[in-house]
Amino acid sequence: MSTTTASGVSAEAAAPAPASAATALGILRQPKTVLFGAGQRRQLPYIVRAIAKHLLVTTDARMATTPEFLDIISAVEAAGVQVSIYAEAEPDLPREDVVAVVERFGHTEVDAILGIGGGSCMDLAKVVSIVLANGGDVRDYYGEFLVPGPGVPVVTVPTTGGTGAEVTCISVVFDRDRGMKVGVASPFLEAHTAVIDPELTVSCPPGLTAATGADALSHLVEAFTGRVKNPSPDDLDTKLYAGKNRLTDVFARQGLELLNTSLEAVVADPSDLAARSDTMLAAYCAGMSINTAGTAGAHAVQGAIGNLTHTPHGFGISALLPSIMRFNLPERVAEFAEIGRILGVADPASPLEEQAHAGILRIEALLEALGAPLDLKTLGLSPDDFGFVADQALLATRLTANNPRELTRDDVLAILEHAYAGDRSWWTV
Ligand SMILES: [Fe+2]
Repeated sequence: MSTTTASGVSAEAAAPAPASAATALGILRQPKTVLFGAGQRRQLPYIVRAIAKHLLVTTDARMATTPEFLDIISAVEAAGVQVSIYAEAEPDLPREDVVAVVERFGHTEVDAILGIGGGSCMDLAKVVSIVLANGGDVRDYYGEFLVPGPGVPVVTVPTTGGTGAEVTCISVVFDRDRGMKVGVASPFLEAHTAVIDPELTVSCPPGLTAATGADALSHLVEAFTGRVKNPSPDDLDTKLYAGKNRLTDVFARQGLELLNTSLEAVVADPSDLAARSDTMLAAYCAGMSINTAGTAGAHAVQGAIGNLTHTPHGFGISALLPSIMRFNLPERVAEFAEIGRILGVADPASPLEEQAHAGILRIEALLEALGAPLDLKTLGLSPDDFGFVADQALLATRLTANNPRELTRDDVLAILEHAYAGDRSWWTV
């Protein structure tokens, strides 16, 4: 039977029948080229020379003074490419940064952008790219699939091991006037090339390593235990997140295995390049997973907590994760049990519930080893704000829709109470 979908496209069936695990959906979005490995930043002049005559670089003040950054710029210029630099990117990407870059460089002949640094430096490059090419203000593109056409090519180079922004096609912008973070989510934000060089993370400070490591781990957990959506053709055309699927699971399993050993090794010796490489590869896997599966409950609840407490994204997520995992457990016993086996702490012969508990406890042990907080009290959140946080979380429908268990306001309040108290004796199964 033919039906007409919300986008006006006639489809054989708007909602296909649920697939079995073996025939289920798989979907990834990714840069055209991903280059990974120690020292691979030295390929950047060749990559940039092929796509640009005038390169805009977006980074932050810390990165801009490092010898590695200055070497990259010299090498790109030596390859005959004109370089302009915006080195004022701020954490949590304020909208003002996007406006400033577009004002400063919109009239130039910039034909590619290199975003190098943490998540906000790369998110800035991605979102400026589509504003430069499509015109208007970044506000015109808040939401999903609202960008009308491609941007100028973007090259992403991460220098922290966690956000996955080098491969995700979303930029998260803090809009001060609206008092909230908003996403610009479109396949047109996908980078042309991602260059992931673990040597760039060796000088990453311990606090940042902890926050971004916790973030990467949470991405893997939320993608692997997320909702299976069985999207219709029209859903795939209008919504960024298709839910947990066969291809994101491949990346999630690999990422979990890598972080199981590398996070503790990086904490023990921040100069351990092999461990940094594994963490970086895992963060990339996590980025690939969330780019189509999406993040879920912990990310939905963290937004308002970050705004209220001015604490790093990864620490807010870490503090919420024990309670969110326990809340979701009844719907995801098999997946948490598999996590337990991947992390080498679950006996395959034991009951699934035991394996799942072991998996959750191991994730918490990894967060603890990083020095990431496991309760909200440590972050300075006041119980008086729980109601506000719950209301804000339920507005993040793009994320709550990925949570495997339905989240009501009372559910979020209960999660906040357990997370505030650091109550890890709470087992739902
Ligand atoms: Fe995150």
